[in-house]
Amino acid sequence: MPQYILALDQGTTSSRAILFDRKGRIVAQAQKEFTQFFPKPGWVEHDPQEIWSTQAGVAAEATVKAGQNGRSIAALGITNQRETVVVWNRKTGKPVYNAIVWQDRRTAAFCDQLRTEGREEGIREKTGLLLDAYFSASKVRWILDNVRGARRKAEAGQLAFGTIDSWLIWNFTQGELHITDVSNASRTMLFNIHTLQWDDELLALFDIPRSMLPEVRSSSEVYGHTKTTVFASKIPLAGIAGDQQAALFGQHCSEPGMVKSTYGTGCFLLMNTGTTPVPSRNKLLTTVAWQLNGQVHYALEGSIFMAGAVVQWVRDNLGIIKTAAEIEALARQVSGTGGVYFVPAFAGLGAPHWDPYARGTLLGMSRATTAAHIARASLEAIAFQTMDVLEAMKTDSGLPIAELRVDGGASANNLLMQFQADILHTTVIRPRILESTALGAAYLAGLAVGYWASPDDIQSTGQLGKVFKPKAGLTATTEGIDGWHRAVRAVRAWSQD
Ligand code: G3P
Repeated sequence: MPQYILALDQGTTSSRAILFDRKGRIVAQAQKEFTQFFPKPGWVEHDPQEIWSTQAGVAAEATVKAGQNGRSIAALGITNQRETVVVWNRKTGKPVYNAIVWQDRRTAAFCDQLRTEGREEGIREKTGLLLDAYFSASKVRWILDNVRGARRKAEAGQLAFGTIDSWLIWNFTQGELHITDVSNASRTMLFNIHTLQWDDELLALFDIPRSMLPEVRSSSEVYGHTKTTVFASKIPLAGIAGDQQAALFGQHCSEPGMVKSTYGTGCFLLMNTGTTPVPSRNKLLTTVAWQLNGQVHYALEGSIFMAGAVVQWVRDNLGIIKTAAEIEALARQVSGTGGVYFVPAFAGLGAPHWDPYARGTLLGMSRATTAAHIARASLEAIAFQTMDVLEAMKTDSGLPIAELRVDGGASANNLLMQFQADILHTTVIRPRILESTALGAAYLAGLAVGYWASPDDIQSTGQLGKVFKPKAGLTATTEGIDGWHRAVRAVRAWSQD
């Protein structure tokens, strides 16, 4: 009798594998980092073969750690860094170029050109996305235009394109399946999120032959079985979702208005908006959350570029703490920031501003300012940015936000989470298992094979960690929030000057 679900979480910096049991508990896990290539300023690449080998390696390692040989795995679910592009030869299975990562900016000028041609609104209506180099389409085009012979081969039907989920499944099935799911497809800028089809006009605009594209499937169904020798027996491949959508599912945000925030390097906030896509007027993205049992759920998404990375900067560049965890104790030495605001726009500002030219700024310092004030202002900045995205979500969706579910490394910081609850005047809930992304992929796969009978069945597996109730009064927080908005306005005025 199969006992476990294996979730593979192929992230931007590491490949991970986690085995979960029926109660959603971690049985075994393995993780391996892989090489990041920065061939030119603004360019970010991965080696697709290394992605595959590390992912297959950790899958085998976790399985062995659990004392399994693959026979006790009921299903495999895949979740992945989104938007990142791999183009490979269908015959040889060899990539024609490195994977171009979502962070890569090499196609920014091309996107600007499309904007000048007035293409943004049309793209946005169909895909729910902002016209930006972040998404897959312009990256695929770049490969076809810049890799020798690629366009000719693509036009002859010899090349395949896929996001990382497609690439892994192709390899797990030794080329039998070339598929993706709706949530990953919705990040390519080639997919119409209303009709749930690849869009011929967009394919023409980006000059990408349709024959390269994977077949789009739901997020939870048995797509096929593994064929590799990674496992001793064939395992059903039964769940796929982009990592942020998987985390939304793993956090049990199954009803409209439910929101999760992952505090990683940056922050990814997603709100379930139900079965109809909600367009944004505040520069959020409209995206497919998942397709389950024939029903599609949509989400609004906003990302912040610097969250945990702010703490890293304080540690590595300012040197006022030795480990990231020390920031909490340092910030607790003072009860407030003493009027200091830190706008960590090191890489520009994300949602709801999308200002690529803004830069990191410390404001409001006096001679009384200490390292503790700066540490506290850094943590508060993470929470303030999150607040701004949530406000935009409320306005766009018209839905109240009853609570915020959190995960990711920086969500372990209690001071930050309490401050977040205080400024939002909303309860913040941190689950006991912070692996929401992998758990979401496990749920999707487990539901497809009947390991869990229904979405209600998985609700009972959620384990509450800590609940942060808002404690501070309205007046106390209003002053702080006003100060933050003044600081952001100052930074934006500087960037636009
Ligand atoms: O959109 C990019 C996102 O999917 C990356 O997530 O966790 O790999 O940084 P992560």
